[in-house]
Amino acid sequence: MSHPFDVAEIAATYANKSAQDILKFAFQHFGDELWISFSGAEDVVLVDMAWKINKNVKVFSLDTGRLHPETYRFIDQVREQYKIAIDIVSPDRETLEPFVKEKGLFSFYKDGHGECCGVRKIEPLRRKLTDVKAWATGQRRDQSPSTRNSVAVVEIDSAFSTPERPLYKFNPLAQMSSEDVWNYIRMLELPYNSLHERGFISIGCEPCTRPVLPNQHEREGRWWWEEATQKECGLHSGNLITKA
Ligand code: ADX
Ligand code: SF4
Repeated sequence: MSHPFDVAEIAATYANKSAQDILKFAFQHFGDELWISFSGAEDVVLVDMAWKINKNVKVFSLDTGRLHPETYRFIDQVREQYKIAIDIVSPDRETLEPFVKEKGLFSFYKDGHGECCGVRKIEPLRRKLTDVKAWATGQRRDQSPSTRNSVAVVEIDSAFSTPERPLYKFNPLAQMSSEDVWNYIRMLELPYNSLHERGFISIGCEPCTRPVLPNQHEREGRWWWEEATQKECGLHSGNLITKA
């Protein structure tokens, strides 16, 4: 399978370029076929930047069924404000219902988040990405010292590519710090998830996210009962594979 560009070379060339430059490159290559994944948190920056480059930008969110009410409201606020359709992707009922019947709604506190994330996030994401050529995420290096400190600005998605179909994964915010992202939100008066006003920095599902204390790293508010090195849910499991 030939690649439209040399991924390693572009990753190196764009490593220190702006998030907008990386997005422009992605749109030049994939046009309207580039999908932005939006979690309903501070990655609104990615949606804003992408929308300013391409008003037809395609956005999707994984609705695990367990997001905070504030996050649902925020996703809809973004949909209305930017006048974009956001594809809301739900878990497969045939898998979800037997899982919950067997293990209840909070099995992750007992045996880890892997199984629930598998049903509520990974299978839906895999389904979503089946025909997708390229996607972009709001991952940043500073989000997790143990799993994200070498996130590249573009990579071949090691988790969701198939032998027949390489999937390109852009991480345009990779080099931005939390401070950069928040300066952007404040400066341009972007909408933001109201949970951020209550001590939440990183936001995921409601049962698996909590606010952090002063000086705690943002990732400590996610799956806090588990080891730091396990704190990837599989959306970005390539981060763990390359660390192994
Ligand atoms: S997670 O893997 O630990 O849940 P995180 O919350 O840090 O991910 O978000 C990093 C990026 O992953 C987001 O900016 C977004 O691109 C993508 N992402 C995470 N959760 C979702 C979601 N529910 N829907 C769509 N994209 C998501
Ligand atoms: Fe389930 Fe928690 Fe994973 Fe959400 S983050 S899918 S509730 S284990």
